[in-house]
Parts: sequence; C-alpha cells; structure tokens
Amino acid sequence: MKVLVTRRLPGGWIERLAEEVDVEMWQGEIPPPKSWILERIHDKDGILVTLTEKVDKEVIDAGKKLRVISTYSVGFDHIDVAYAKSKGIIVTNTPEVLTDATADLIFGLLISVARRIVEGDKLIRSGLWDKPWHPEFMLGKEVHHSTLGILGMGRIGRAILKRAKGFDMKVIYYSRSKHDVDATFVDLDTLLKESDFLVVTVDLNRETYHMLNYERLRLMKRTAFLINASRGPVVNEVDLIRILEEGKIAGAALDVFEREPLERDNPLTKFPNVVLTPHLGSATRETRERMAEVAVKNLLLALKGERPIYEVK
Ligand code: GLV
Ligand code: GLV
Repeated sequence: MKVLVTRRLPGGWIERLAEEVDVEMWQGEIPPPKSWILERIHDKDGILVTLTEKVDKEVIDAGKKLRVISTYSVGFDHIDVAYAKSKGIIVTNTPEVLTDATADLIFGLLISVARRIVEGDKLIRSGLWDKPWHPEFMLGKEVHHSTLGILGMGRIGRAILKRAKGFDMKVIYYSRSKHDVDATFVDLDTLLKESDFLVVTVDLNRETYHMLNYERLRLMKRTAFLINASRGPVVNEVDLIRILEEGKIAGAALDVFEREPLERDNPLTKFPNVVLTPHLGSATRETRERMAEVAVKNLLLALKGERPIYEVK
C-alpha cells in the first residue's frame, strides 16, 4: 500500500508507518504546494495531512485509489468531509490527545489578557518600568469568581470547565444541545451578555462561520474579554477590530486568525489589550507526539479495513 504524508511529524511515527506501507513524504518546513499533492495522489491508498493542506474536491478526485484521509489535527474544516464520504473515503482526526494541552493554553491566554501579563512583560523590556510600586498601576480584571462563558461544550469546552472550577468561576455555556455538565446552559445572547470571559471552542463549519459578528460581539460587556483558540473564521475579524476600536469590550486573546500567518500590519497587533499567539493550542512536545501516534494508527487501521481510533462522522 502507498501513502502520501504532507509534513514531517515528531516522535518517530512516520518511520514506523514506513515499516508497513510505502511512504512518500514532503520534507519542507513550509506546507507543500497543492500541485505536489495533485501530482502524487493518483496511486495512493491513503494520505496523512495537517491543517495547512486543503483536501478539497480536486484533491479527492485526483486520488483515484484513495481510501483514507488522516488529519494530524482535531479540526477538519480543511477537508471536504461530505465529498470524501460520498466517495467512500474514511476521514480520521486526532481529538482527545490534544484536549488538555489546548485547554491549558486557553486558560493561559485568559489569565494573560485579564492580568495584563504580556503587556507588563513588554513594558519592562521596553525600559518603561521606571516608577516604584503604585496602588493603581496596571490594574486588570479578576479571574476567580468571575463568569466564564463557553461557546461550544465538546471535549475542549469540558476541559476548560474543569479548570474554571478550580478558579471558582461561575460557568455558563451555549452549544447546539444541552450537556450533562456542571454549568448553566443559556442562549447565545445571554452567553454574550453575561460572560466576563467568553471562550470560543466550537468547530468551524457553515453554521459557525462568522458566528461572532459585530451585532453579536456588541452584546458583550465593556469589561469582558474574548478568547479564541478554535478557528479564526468563527469570529468576523474585521468586526472584532471595530469592536476593539470602539472600546466595546475590554480585550481579546487570540491563538487563531482568519488568515495564518497573521500579516505583520494586521490592526490586531496594535492593541495593547490583545494577546496574540501563533496557533499554539496543541503545541507541546508530548501532545504533538501523541497526535502523530494517533494519526498514523488511524491511517493504518482504516487501510486494513479496521475501525480507526477516531473517525470524523
Ligand atoms: C489545531 O488547530 C487542530 O485542529 O488540531
Ligand atoms: C504586594 O506585593 C503586596 O505585598 O500586597
């Protein structure tokens, strides 16, 4: 059997994959151009991709023998899953193994923006910490006992909920359906109106694209913060910039953007009350190695006609 692998992955898992099937792998630091995939996919039984490779109709049609698309990510918005399924192709992903790492980062972002950690670091480095301790210097927003709003209550939402309990936060959430969790289910407007911290954890799909637009963000408290580490396009970025310019929320912490990498001169980089990280949700050594293990195992199991560990339904 033959498989195409679009990026090198940590942990030695591709070497193990190569013991069982023929592997053709892109070696570059940046993602392969689409043409590289299109030229090679015709005789491959499987493909292992990351979130930077679009697996659209064109790629799927070129994969005449393709039976499995294994993505090294929890998100699958870069794959035309419905079309793949219509062709009998199995799509697999890597949830669960990255849940805690992502929830940790989200909490880090939340605390960073609330307590002005990044701003304080920048201030010191730019030599501007030139006065002694002052009772009202760089005051932030309290995290403990505040209200956390979680948009989406999947695995990552639950992991955030667990952390929030340790901070004695009041937790409200909105998602497509009610869950059996220790948090209050509210409608979207209430979530927006009552949250001190609004954390986005929904998948990107047709229903969630630009879900947080001007009209909705406007409902947030002036003292509230938005935290997004799911997918950039869930938030209309132009609208968010306008909301920040108008001072309608207190700040934002963002790990994902409508276009990545974020352009240097993107207005988001100008706000001191915005914390930015470069799509690091799952970026720990341990998690990225576990993701490689799961992506490779998913691929091999599905190629053998067995049930993969995680299939995108
Ligand atoms: C990261 O963004 C992922 O989807 O795994
Ligand atoms: C702060 O450093 C305090 O001692 O209250």
